[in-house]
This record gives sequence, structure tokens and C-alpha cells, in this order.
Amino acid sequence: MKKQNQNSITDNIRDILEWYTDIGMTVAIGHEPVNHKQVRARTHTATASIPLTKAGVTPLPTVATPPKQAVNSKAIAAACQTIDDLRQAIMNFDGCDLKMTATHTVFSDGNPDAKIMIIGEAPGADEDRQGRPFVGLSGQLLDRVLASINLSRAQNIYISNIISWRPPGNRTPTPHEIALCQPFIERHIELIAPKILILVGGVSAKTLLNTSEGIMKLRGKWHEFKTEGMQTPIKTMATYHPAFLLRSPGQKAAVWKDLLLVQEEMQKVGLA
Ligand code: URA
Repeated sequence: MKKQNQNSITDNIRDILEWYTDIGMTVAIGHEPVNHKQVRARTHTATASIPLTKAGVTPLPTVATPPKQAVNSKAIAAACQTIDDLRQAIMNFDGCDLKMTATHTVFSDGNPDAKIMIIGEAPGADEDRQGRPFVGLSGQLLDRVLASINLSRAQNIYISNIISWRPPGNRTPTPHEIALCQPFIERHIELIAPKILILVGGVSAKTLLNTSEGIMKLRGKWHEFKTEGMQTPIKTMATYHPAFLLRSPGQKAAVWKDLLLVQEEMQKVGLA
């Protein structure tokens, strides 16, 4: 009887811990509550010079995000001359707090010599566990969709994400996190130099196309991606995220249409 009670207490504790993980409570930081609004305000002060002089706000002794490295992600990325340099630089980068709660840095998967590069949003739970992008259910769907036009990671596809660390509870990355990581993915694209980019989902499309337009408007037509360091722009297709397709399978036809445009372009440039 005693043993049974102990087992059910252990089960309850496990359930509670799993629930914490699901909602993104994955780090226990301290015994005292933290005023995150205040921390955030001070972080912005450091990078955007917003004065924080409200009466009654006790100054905090430390700032959560080290702003120096935050500002530096562009310089760090620009200094990378190879994909291995970039992988190492991202692994060493401590300017993004998402790294604190992630198990792995998720860099890329597929063939680095591929001429088609796919960019998603950020790793989910499965990707965080395995350290590879798009390995969970949405990744498996992505693989099946790609296979329908003879594309695979083993041969002609290279995949990465805007963000290299899983946001707790799979929340959408904040604009600050995106801005921090954007120089890395842009350098990643420069170094891979694909002929075609496929941006899956709104976060990826809006970030790299530098627009506030939603994915419904962006998908299904050609865009151009170009950084200051690139000579010629890369033809870029935006489409729905496979996780969205899992929730709304009726939209698969739209993605199929987008991929037919990709296939047409592949034929034009001699990739198919
Ligand atoms: N969703 C993404 O955008 N990227 C992944 O790697 C996994 C899920």
C-alpha cells in the first residue's frame, strides 16, 4: 500500500514536470521572483537608449541579456569564412537567451552542396532533442512533400532555421531573438549560395523578405533575397509551414502549387 502511494506521488510529480516543460517552464533560476518587465526594459535601455526613470522601480543589479554580444552577432557572422566557422560561432554564441533553455544548438541538415536551401522558423521539441532541424512530425511531412518533386536531404536539399535554439514551449520567437539570429542565417545563406531558397512559414518569410506581409500574401510567387555581400539575388519562394499543413491539411494543394513553381524553376536553371 505504502509503495503504491509512493508510485502515485512519483507519477504526479512526473506529470507536473511534463506539464511545466510543455508550457515552456524549463529553467529554475532562483528563489526570488523576477520582474521580467523591468529586466526587459533595462535590456532595451542598453540597446535602444530608452530612459527608465519611473518612480518606484528599484534598479536591478544585473541585466539578463548581455547586450554587447547581441550587437555583435552581425560582426561574428560576417567573420565566418566557412560553414564550419559559422557552426562553431553559433555554438559559442551566448547572446541569445534561448540557448539557456535548449538542449542542443540546431544548425542544419542535408547536403551543403545542394542548390536548394529551405529555411524554417526554429527547432521544436524533437529537433532540440536530436540536434537536427525538421525531424519531428512536421519535418517528416516536409520530407514527403519534397520527395514528390524528387528532392531529398540526402541529395539536393539543405535545411536550416532562422533561430538555432528551441523557444520554450514552441512559442514564436520574439522580434529581439529574430533580430539577434538574423545575421547568422543570412551568412549561412551566403556561404551555401543556393540557386533557390524556400522559406517555410510566416516567420521565415517575413524575416528574410524584410516585410510585414503575411504568409498568405507572400506564398505562391517569386521573390528575391539578397544581402549586401551577395552579387546576385537568389530566387525565393515562400510557402506554408508543414506544421500548419498538419493542422490544416486542406492547404496542401497550395503548397503543391508552390512546389510546382519551384520544379519549373529547377528545370529552367538545369537543376532537374
Ligand atoms: N519547425 C521549424 O520551423 N523548424 C524545425 O526545425 C522544426 C519545426
